[in-house]
Amino acid sequence: MNIRFLGHAAFQITINGKKLIIDPFISANPNASNIKVDTLEADYILITHGHGDHIADVETIAKRTGAKIISNYEIVEWFGKKDLEGYPLNHGGKIKLDFGTIKYVNAVHTSSFPDGSYAGQPGGFVIWDESECLYFAGDTALTMDMKLIPMTCPKLTTAILPIGDNFTMGYEDAIIASDFIECEKIIPCHFDTMDIISVDKEVVKTAFNEKGKDIYFLEIGESIETN
Ligand code: NI
Ligand code: MN
Repeated sequence: MNIRFLGHAAFQITINGKKLIIDPFISANPNASNIKVDTLEADYILITHGHGDHIADVETIAKRTGAKIISNYEIVEWFGKKDLEGYPLNHGGKIKLDFGTIKYVNAVHTSSFPDGSYAGQPGGFVIWDESECLYFAGDTALTMDMKLIPMTCPKLTTAILPIGDNFTMGYEDAIIASDFIECEKIIPCHFDTMDIISVDKEVVKTAFNEKGKDIYFLEIGESIETN
């Protein structure tokens, strides 16, 4: 599995030859000006919830690439009205597709579209094939529900967790989350996009390392091979 950071909470995952874009917020993110949205490849676009900082570039990428949307029922319906196709899930449900299996799991956050309409409940994704299993938490607080993930999914090999605080859990809670999900390899997101969610990377790294966890800060545009 290859995981490429596109800034904020946006990632491109390459798994079994398929490209999955998660929560694209790129053209409106001044920090991600090195990412060219109109050249990004995508077979699927995964959306955790309806907030603008997670869906800004969904429509343009999907229209250009024909990528299918994977999200909760309400979000897939909303994009369906824009003639985009997708796979609606709801919490606890999973689907097997040509790249592997994907499950929509609980997150504690809010969710509405930029126009104020209802976007269902927010979630995260667990994505796996025969060899790897990735948890993408989405915007969430630390929640006891995270303990369900190792009970119901294959052993996690990597997790992408928000650490920026204020709108999501901060790094201290993300360390506890990494215990709940029984995962040692963490990639952080949802930090430094604006002052209110800025972090001191050295402080965060030290705190994770003291708990025996590896945390990988990716530069925007950088990718990591996780196998
Ligand atoms: Ni949000
Ligand atoms: Mn957000």
